[in-house]
Amino acid sequence: MSDSYLLIDDVKKEFQREGDTPLRVIDGLTVHVENGALLSILGPSGCGKSTLLNIINGLDDVTSGRIVINGTEIGVKSRSAVKIGVIFQEPRLLNWRTVRDNVRLPLDEMKIPRAEANERVDRYLDLVGLAEFGDYYPLRLSGGMRQRVSLARGLAIEPDLLLADEPFSALDEITARKLRLELVRIWQATGRTIVFVTHNIREAVFLSTRMLVVTARPCTTHLDLPIDIPHPRLPEDDRLFEIEKQVTRDFMRMEEASA
Ligand SMILES: Nc1ncnc2c1ncn2[C@@H]1O[C@H](COP(=O)(O)OP(=O)(O)OP(=O)(O)O)[C@@H](O)[C@H]1O
Ligand SMILES: [Mg+2]
Repeated sequence: MSDSYLLIDDVKKEFQREGDTPLRVIDGLTVHVENGALLSILGPSGCGKSTLLNIINGLDDVTSGRIVINGTEIGVKSRSAVKIGVIFQEPRLLNWRTVRDNVRLPLDEMKIPRAEANERVDRYLDLVGLAEFGDYYPLRLSGGMRQRVSLARGLAIEPDLLLADEPFSALDEITARKLRLELVRIWQATGRTIVFVTHNIREAVFLSTRMLVVTARPCTTHLDLPIDIPHPRLPEDDRLFEIEKQVTRDFMRMEEASA
């Protein structure tokens, strides 16, 4: 499968520790991610998921192995030509800039012409239900609204590859549900590739075309499960519950075995 859009090839990652052996965080992880996949990654806290996303995003290097995106091996010194968007668990907004400016900032950095940038900012703010809040400063918004601004900012660059690190975990369930549906809608409309890290098994099953369950640190594949139920899905679909039950049981067994 050399034609994977994103290839994580036998990746090992260690962090150096003063006066101690290095901390091994990822240990020989290999994943082939096909173009257009919505892959979720589920794993115990501290196992190395955010580290992996940082590496894919070119912010950190592997200790050994390779990350190949669309045929090009990437690293800190060789960033991908592929447009990568990132959404984090917390919004990471500039509090002294308005909502609209926050969403427009990466578009300005990409030198997108002003008229098009403004049009996109409005479109994506509208999409996340914040059309009327463009002139607000982040500190005058609720936590959920701030997170929606961050989602709009991540989507407005129209990334080829979207990396999401528990983006909905701090939101109330109703808002999270709406945003999951939006994410699926945008993913279906654009056909882009998404790698979505979450702790929430139900969320992972609902969203993804494929689920990767990884082990406790050092992180490696525990389970690689395709979810072949067509989108759009109904959150209450019994088939999703069945998969959720099966994965939950398996996840608990893995946690017990490593305890
Ligand atoms: N820059 C760094 N320097 C040293 N150690 C680090 C660094 N970044 C992460 N680590 C360590 O690597 C391990 C994995 O961290 P990481 O943030 O990737 O976990 P995670 O799977 O995202 O956890 P969570 O689900 O809680 O977000 C942790 O033990 C953490 O302390
Ligand atoms: Mg993390």
